[in-house]
Formats: sequence, structure tokens, C-alpha cells
Amino acid sequence: MTIDLATAAGALFTTQGRVDPYPLYHTIRQASPVLPMAENIVLVTGYDECDRLLKDPAFMVRDQYRRDREDESAENRHPAKSLIAASIISLNPPDHRRLRLLLGRAFTPARITAMVPVIERIAEELMSEMKEKAEDVKFIDFMSEFADRLPIRVAGAVLGLSGADTEGLGPLVHDLAVAFEPGITGKPLAAANSAAARLRAHLTDVADRRRGQPSADDDLIGTLVAAAPEDFDELVANLVLLLVAGQESPSNLLGNGLRILLDKPELAATLRTAPAGLPAFVEEVLRYDSPVQMTARWPNQETDLGGYRLPREGCAILMLGAANRDPRIFLDPDEFLTTRTNNKHLSFASGSHFCLGAALARLGGRIAFHALLREFPGMSLADEPVRIDRLSLRGYATLPIRLAA
Ligand code: HEM
Repeated sequence: MTIDLATAAGALFTTQGRVDPYPLYHTIRQASPVLPMAENIVLVTGYDECDRLLKDPAFMVRDQYRRDREDESAENRHPAKSLIAASIISLNPPDHRRLRLLLGRAFTPARITAMVPVIERIAEELMSEMKEKAEDVKFIDFMSEFADRLPIRVAGAVLGLSGADTEGLGPLVHDLAVAFEPGITGKPLAAANSAAARLRAHLTDVADRRRGQPSADDDLIGTLVAAAPEDFDELVANLVLLLVAGQESPSNLLGNGLRILLDKPELAATLRTAPAGLPAFVEEVLRYDSPVQMTARWPNQETDLGGYRLPREGCAILMLGAANRDPRIFLDPDEFLTTRTNNKHLSFASGSHFCLGAALARLGGRIAFHALLREFPGMSLADEPVRIDRLSLRGYATLPIRLAA
């Protein structure tokens, strides 16, 4: 079936289009890798075009200054949006550079390596709970029993939050993450606002308790409290962002990857006996079914983009999931191939906002898939999985599995 360009672009923003956006991306990219969508908005689906914009310092993230200038709506001032707007992901230089250095202290190679036994232990605990549960029920939901629970505990450990401080935060973080979706309103926005208020209160309390009590091992919360002992607003916004980023996308990496393993038992068998192939598997999951499908950048001056004049008020929507299927870069882009060399996907973006947690996410994925393949060799799909109805963060709402054949 062939569909026209306007229909394809519009369909991306519908529930049906979101289930499988990849054919739509191809239709759009083939016609125009930089497509004027609406007044002052371009949709970028080409790999080189996305990569260039992400690395171009003239294209910025939408910071609070820009929000206030361009958007006087009440929505701009909603607690969920303001909290994310105060964090590193919504800052431009010089504040962005300052925070990147500060937060980067929690993500050095040595600190990530030190997380190996922590992640292994959390995976073991969750798997034994899954086994116990599976004795009483016909199938279990992989998302709620494992994928949604492992990453938040790992992210909490990296930040220096105790188990008790992370307990119960998962659902709040999940509700708040909806604020990343363009144009959300109504009930989801109300839930995101309520989650933002509760997370803010909880993490302010945690930071308050840490004031004047520097931690023995200089963890991230201790570092942030020491850097600004009187003003917790920035600190709390960044802790929340790290929990959201550290929970939502890694959870979808686990769900999207497990689905592929269940669909490809031969690949699962190979990786079970030859786990050295897991890093390439994780990279291909990130490329093939990217947990973060889109981001956006705003020019700081009028710019020519593929023959289209994008004004200073304009916005470029960058479809990372489409860039990762660009046939000009990836041979047979719709094939899942763990044999790819130089798999330079944009799933962690590129340029100055390149994902701070990329190494942690890769490590978590490798450890989790290794443990699951070893522990549950007979895993199978028990029922049709249900996709989350979102375009920006792509994953499953439920993924029902049987642990044993
Ligand atoms: C599969 C897992 C992950 C994916 C696909 C992912 C993807 C991304 C992407 C695409 C961005 C750039 C957004 C933009 O430029 O607009 C980003 C930024 C970021 N990510 Fe991740 N992420 C993942 C895991 C994590 C984890 C585990 C953490 C930390 C615990 C984390 C922390 C961050 C932070 C702090 C930023 C903002 C960096 C900056 O603005 O300089 N991410 N991530």
C-alpha cells in the first residue's frame, strides 16, 4: 500500500501509526528527509540531517527562557513541565556545561564498573521473585515484574539513594515521564503534575537530610548538596530527571530486547551459549527499536534546512528512530542483524546532550539479558504484548511471558 506524504506524517501522531512507525518513517524520508510539517516546524527523518542538527551549536534545546518568551500558556507553567525545564536536558551553555561536569562525576568509567555487582544482585533478586510468582499464575508480565523495576533501583544506587528512598518511586517516575510527550493534556498531564509535586517533596527531604552529612563515598547527592547547600531547586530537578531518564528508556530497552529474543529463539540460544555477543545484541536493539524515538531542537537564528527557511521561532523535530533505519547509513535497515559492524545509531542522540547514562544503560542491558537467558532458557511469549501509546518513548505497556516451556 502506498500512502501520500501528508498522510504518513499525520499518521505518526495517531495511535495506529505509533504501533509501527517504521514504514511511515521510510515513506517520509524517501520523499524528504527534512519535511516542513506545519508553520515553523520541520520533521527530520534522515540520519545525517539529525546528526548534523544535534551537533550544531546554533540549534539549542528549549530552555525556560525560550519557553517563557514563546509560550505564555498556563501549560508552560505546569509543575511537570517546569521541573523538567529546570534540569540539564533543558539547559543550554553555559549552565549546561557546568551541570554536565557536576553530574558527570557519577558516570565515570570507574563508577560504572563498580555498578556491575549491584546490577547483578538486583537482577537476581527480581528473577527469584518472578520464579516464585510464576508458581501461582499461568504467565507473568515482564514489564511490571522486571523491566520497570530494575532500572530505577540501579539509577537510585548510582545517585546514592538508599533502597528505602527509592521504594515506591517507580510509578511516580512513570507518570512524570509522560511530560516528555508532545501536546499532552487532561488526565495524563494531571497525573504528571501530581507526580512532579510528590517527587519534588520527597527528594527535597532526602537532600535536606544529607545537608551537613557528607557521604563516605562521595556519591552524587552528596556532591550536589555540597555544591549548593542552600538552594535545592536545581538539585531536585536534576535528581528527578536522572530518575526519569534512568528508568523509562532502560525499561523499554529491556522490553523491546526481550520481545526480539522471544521472536528469535535461535538468536536467544546462541547468546545463551556465547554471551560475548550480548554487546552487539544490545546495540542492535537500540538501533532497531529505539527506546527514545524523538527529540527536538530550536535554532538561535533563521536557518536554511534542506532548502526550507526555518525561522528563529521554528522547531526541528528529530526522529531518532527514523534516522536509525536510514538505508543510506544502515544496510537492510529493517533487518535485525547482530553482525553489524560500526553500528553508529543515534539512540543516545549525539553532540553536547549525548546521553550521560549511555554506558550504564548498555551495562544494565547486557547484565539483564545475560541473567534472563541463563535463568529462563524456556521463556516464551504467553499472550499478545501491548505497546505504550506514545511516540517519544517507545516500549511495551505489558509483555506477558511464561518462564518455562
Ligand atoms: C536505553 C537507555 C537510554 C536511552 C535510549 C537514552 C537516551 C537518551 C537521549 C536520546 C538523550 C538526549 C536527549 C536530547 O538530546 O534531547 C539522553 C539524555 C540524557 N540521558 Fe539518557 N538514555 C538512556 C538511559 C539513561 C540512563 C540510565 C541515565 C542515567 C541514570 C540517563 C541520563 C541521561 C541524562 C542526564 C541526559 C541529559 C544529558 C544532557 O542534557 O547533557 N539516560 N538520553
